[in-house]
Amino acid sequence: MSLKLPIIYSTRCSPKKVTCFILLLMLMGYLPFIIYDMYVTSVEIKFYSIHMEDVTCNTNEFMCIIPDYDPYDPQVRQYLSTSHVIQCGQPQLYLTYLDSDGFIHLNKTTIRNSGHKESDYECHYSEIFRTNKSDDKFSLGIAQMFRETEKIRSSTFVLVRCYLKKAELVYETGHAYVPPPSAELNEVSRRQGYDDTDRPSVLIFGLDSMSRLNVIRQLPRTYHFLTNVLDAIVFTGVTKTGDNTFPNMMALLSGINVHKWNNKTSTFTVERPAYFDDIPLVWDSFKDSGYVTMYNEDSPSLTIFNFCASGFKDPPTDYYVRPFWLAMNSINNFKSKDNRCYGSTPKHMYLLDYIEQFAARMKYHRYFAFTFLTLLSHDDLNEVQVADSDFENMFLKMQQGGQLNNTIVIMLGDHGNRFTELRKTDIGRIEDRMPFLAVSLPKQFKHRFPHLVAGLEENRNNLLSWFDFYEMLMDLAHNNLGKKSLVNRYGTIGSSPFRWISRNRTCQEAGIPDEYCICARETQLNTDDERVKNAARDLVAFINSDLLGGTVSQGLCSPLSLKRILSAQMLTLGPQVAQPRGFRVLYRVMVQVMPSKALFEGTVEVTAWSKQGRIVGDVNRINRYGNQSHCVTDSIQQLYCFCTDFLNGIR
Ligand SMILES: *[C@@H]1O[C@H](CO)[C@@H](O)[C@H](O)[C@H]1NC(C)=O
Ligand SMILES: *[C@@H]1O[C@H](CO)[C@@H](O)[C@H](O)[C@H]1NC(C)=O
Ligand SMILES: *[C@@H]1O[C@H](CO)[C@@H](O)[C@H](O)[C@H]1NC(C)=O
Ligand SMILES: *[C@@H]1O[C@H](CO)[C@@H](O)[C@H](O)[C@H]1NC(C)=O
Ligand SMILES: *[C@@H]1O[C@H](CO)[C@@H](O)[C@H](O)[C@H]1NC(C)=O
Ligand SMILES: *[C@@H]1O[C@H](CO)[C@@H](O)[C@H](O)[C@H]1NC(C)=O
Repeated sequence: MSLKLPIIYSTRCSPKKVTCFILLLMLMGYLPFIIYDMYVTSVEIKFYSIHMEDVTCNTNEFMCIIPDYDPYDPQVRQYLSTSHVIQCGQPQLYLTYLDSDGFIHLNKTTIRNSGHKESDYECHYSEIFRTNKSDDKFSLGIAQMFRETEKIRSSTFVLVRCYLKKAELVYETGHAYVPPPSAELNEVSRRQGYDDTDRPSVLIFGLDSMSRLNVIRQLPRTYHFLTNVLDAIVFTGVTKTGDNTFPNMMALLSGINVHKWNNKTSTFTVERPAYFDDIPLVWDSFKDSGYVTMYNEDSPSLTIFNFCASGFKDPPTDYYVRPFWLAMNSINNFKSKDNRCYGSTPKHMYLLDYIEQFAARMKYHRYFAFTFLTLLSHDDLNEVQVADSDFENMFLKMQQGGQLNNTIVIMLGDHGNRFTELRKTDIGRIEDRMPFLAVSLPKQFKHRFPHLVAGLEENRNNLLSWFDFYEMLMDLAHNNLGKKSLVNRYGTIGSSPFRWISRNRTCQEAGIPDEYCICARETQLNTDDERVKNAARDLVAFINSDLLGGTVSQGLCSPLSLKRILSAQMLTLGPQVAQPRGFRVLYRVMVQVMPSKALFEGTVEVTAWSKQGRIVGDVNRINRYGNQSHCVTDSIQQLYCFCTDFLNGIR
């Protein structure tokens, strides 16, 4: 309609009455449209100006300002505490160990101190197999008795049991061994000489739910080692691309965006296949380039590809440690009172030991290793501090052993903490969105590729996402290390931070969804503001409709009602700030609902015309749901549901 206006305004009646009459008729025909257009414009301008009054920063020039908080900000301090050191106690003696050549030994010191003779003990080991085409089962080989020491054949993982006087089970544990690569793999991956620094290895050490600030607070020794000894670059603008581990690590490992708009239900969902064998993951590219590949993640029920999915039919990498963790979790004897232990050993040490063994074994091989620790950092803000010196030691030993000479070390968090009390604060919200990421490059690499180092340095405080680091990994896998990239991009979204990225890129360009964008200009609103109340009401209505609309959950989950509004902000995203036409405003509200006492945070979009706000992207559950949603299996519904059996007092 507005396009037609200039034609009408420029019309002047000519002396010829007929023409004038026709024009008049035309004008009358247009009149309703003109009035309508004026109305539209005035409504939008009014809506716009009401909101602009509240916008603190009003600029056409849009550039993301990366939030910069003090890790020890007073808002944060009250949530910091000292964690209990791990005390496994000694539910069993250290009867056996496995050496780096694959020999299993009886521990003579232990036996000598036990008051029994060596011949009083009888120990067996069984090979741990991955069962055919399944990520969820393992089987055990025939138990082999051994004395003193024995080479564990071709096995990589073994379960060991010892009996005292042939009767009493006194010991049960597992050992993981990193065998040398197969002849074929050895052939392709072996470096030509000790000075062959071509194609560096890549070692990724991930920690679930670790923000940059929380690494600084909880892991000062590790942080210091990374930044001062390994000279790692710490990126301050990395922002998550989805709610939990899966969408973020999928972005890093596959470049695929699983945070999808669903046209049918008009909501965002996470697309998750049952099996991942057919999905190209970054380790496949490394493998094609002659790298040995390894994937090791603890907590087998929560792992990236198995949580609400079935993982892989065939092992995804050359070295795949999942069967070992399944076997360790199945051991019910000699459990420590401290659930951070398997028997007498802290669980995380099994991961760290494996990484060390692997790095030593592959010192003169090209490898890509992805390792991920969930156990200590997922549920608690402070717990992970107990492993700080263990992490530091691991890096120290590898560095002193010359094992990092040709290795790019990447330490990362997938996102920050999502459920603790800190999450209710403004800093906590930012930390949830902004994971840790440090990249250490070996000396020779820096020497050969100064332009790539310059790229990383330039981008260290830039807005970046996991899609960008997928591009960086692919550059390494494809040896695309020249000044100019040989490709536009490997995936569909990011840009490799090895090369210059515009300072003014938007969240959208980086693949960061609106609800996680940290660039928005924010204005705190009063919780009794009518707009906030409406947004809160719309958010709860949305959750209820998502929850109760599904046939699966019909009758299973209780409807939720708004109890209180904890906080609210108005957000203005991107360069559209100064345009009344089509102006949209986002309200972020944090609410508590009954009967579950659940805390939710959601982003609600409102335009001049919307009667009801539209929910943008994910609604975040920011306190733990625990057992509340045991009656549903869908990963989104688990965040929302309060099972009705809790209401009836059955539980
Ligand atoms: C043998 O057991 C003792 C404790 O009895 C332990 O300190 C030592 O580290 C063990 N040796 C090996 C090689 O695991
Ligand atoms: C796995 O499957 C292959 C062929 O399908 C079969 O030959 C093999 O015996 C199976 N192994 C086990 C442990 O079931
Ligand atoms: C959703 O709609 C958009 C545009 O209308 C279309 O491009 C996209 O393919 C649709 N997605 C699905 C999953 O149908
Ligand atoms: C690693 O580098 C250090 C210093 O550059 C050197 O002394 C050491 O011999 C190297 N180690 C190996 C295994 O290449
Ligand atoms: C970003 O900056 C470049 C110049 O560096 C400019 O050409 C471009 O228009 C800017 N984009 C936005 C969205 O502001
Ligand atoms: C969840 O339920 C199980 C039994 O169903 C119970 O053992 C456990 O303590 C409950 N956990 C919580 C956090 O309520």
